[in-house]
Amino acid sequence: PLQRLQELAELKQTARLGGGADRIAKHKAKGRLTARERLAVLLDEGSFEEFDLFKEHRCGDFGMGDKHFAGDGVVTGYGTIEGRLVYVFSQDFTVFGGSLSETFAEKICKVMDMALKNGAPVIGLNDSGGARIQEGIESLAGYTDIFLRNVLTSGVVPQISAIFGPCAGGAVYSPALTDFTFMVEGQSNMFLTGPKVVKTVTHEDVTTEDLGGAAVHTTRSGVAHFACPDELTTLEQIKRLVAFLPSNHLEMPPQRATQDPPDRYDAGLDAIVPENPNHPYDITAVIGAIVDNGDFMESQAGFGPSLVTGFARMGGKPVGIVANQPTHLAGVLDCDSSIKGARFVRFCDCFNLPLITLVDVPGFLPGTAQEHRGIIREGAKMLYAYAEATVPKVTVITRKAYGGAYCVMSSKHLRGDINYAWPTAEIAVMGARGAVEILHAREAAKAEDPKALLAEKEKDYNERFTTPLVAARRGYIDDIITPGRTRLRVIKALTMLENKQDSNPRKKHGNMPL
Ligand code: COA
Repeated sequence: PLQRLQELAELKQTARLGGGADRIAKHKAKGRLTARERLAVLLDEGSFEEFDLFKEHRCGDFGMGDKHFAGDGVVTGYGTIEGRLVYVFSQDFTVFGGSLSETFAEKICKVMDMALKNGAPVIGLNDSGGARIQEGIESLAGYTDIFLRNVLTSGVVPQISAIFGPCAGGAVYSPALTDFTFMVEGQSNMFLTGPKVVKTVTHEDVTTEDLGGAAVHTTRSGVAHFACPDELTTLEQIKRLVAFLPSNHLEMPPQRATQDPPDRYDAGLDAIVPENPNHPYDITAVIGAIVDNGDFMESQAGFGPSLVTGFARMGGKPVGIVANQPTHLAGVLDCDSSIKGARFVRFCDCFNLPLITLVDVPGFLPGTAQEHRGIIREGAKMLYAYAEATVPKVTVITRKAYGGAYCVMSSKHLRGDINYAWPTAEIAVMGARGAVEILHAREAAKAEDPKALLAEKEKDYNERFTTPLVAARRGYIDDIITPGRTRLRVIKALTMLENKQDSNPRKKHGNMPL
């Protein structure tokens, strides 16, 4: 029996080398970690339990019959992150370029099925040349089996993807269906068709980086959520994200004890909103001031930057934060920021993360570019997401809440639980200047001094509407609060809402405007 043990150890040792020492050396020469090294960084030490180490492909075509690598290019199993169970797969570029075969897909499906049954997140580390060309349709079937599981798993357990190398063709759709995608700057790329095909079809010359690098997908397309400078940072950021999330939709997000007092007064907030309503201030400074230890993990920072989304803790409890950003286009909602906000709100609602919404929004971005892109539909996504969300919803209007954007941003009317305003809040159909120009156009045309008349009317309008009092008198605002006490007021609201129960009418599923 001892000899058998020895043989098994040797077998395993060879199997763990994937594509072999030479290919590993070549891979590492590019400055990359191997599939197993990535898992070692991601998971708690010694927690990884592997499945299917000896599984091989069954392809006999193109001379594949005598080319076998134990494990077939993907390392799968489970482990823990800060002691909490997660399921993982890590694609091994040293085996057929990490390309996906029938058995490779079966291995991934096995851990996904377990994750669904046992209620723990799935984290996929991608590094693959796409479909295993020698297998053809079998590998396409394999991809689709994974996609189906991504969809069925959506909303049951969190799904996280990281891209460490190429991710092309059909391979992109699994990450695209997951909740969050990380990319490594200058190293990973995602596209449906590569530069060569692009050249043939559209005659464009484009590099892989410009077509689908981390910068493109975290700023222009919004396909990825986080761009990290290197592999280690990427893996650390995945762990940071996981710590905010419950393991599944039936659990509450994990609490973490905090030394930051809930009643910490922040005098800086009392003066943060500038006198001039057209002057910006950075909403992330407000977020930093109210959350535990200023720790805020921003998601999609570079995409739709007029809206800030991300995770933080308040009184030790994870929350999702959505906030208009006055430093970018005055905090307007445009197509990108609406899509980003809607998906973030829905994620939080899936996984029991209360929503804290900070409002300073002058409206939706005007213009043909936005209207023709369908800002009506995109803005409706935000509206839909907030309206259907049943998690605790706490809103603080810091300054502008104009027009349709007021309605959208977690207003009382969309089942906002607690809606506060700072004394600087301006809640109105539109800004004073635009409003009086419309209301008093005829009078102004006849007046001797139209400018003076409009200025007078603007002053009147401001006195009557540019205040939170009108909304507070109607109960649309629950209280007008001291900015410095925002942290305490929000934490108290969250504690009060801890056992909130709410639901939506029974249906198969809604028909969100997509
Ligand atoms: N199927 C089978 N084998 C593949 C593969 C695929 N889709 N992609 C890569 N490989 C193999 C290569 O044959 C090579 O094998 P070897 O080590 O035995 O020589 C190994 O993986 C490494 O690939 P290589 O091309 O040397 O690496 P690279 O870093 O220079 O380029 C890619 C990586 C992914 C850009 C390139 O391999 C590629 O374009 N692959 C095809 C992508 C594709 O079109 N996939 C199908 C779309 S779904």
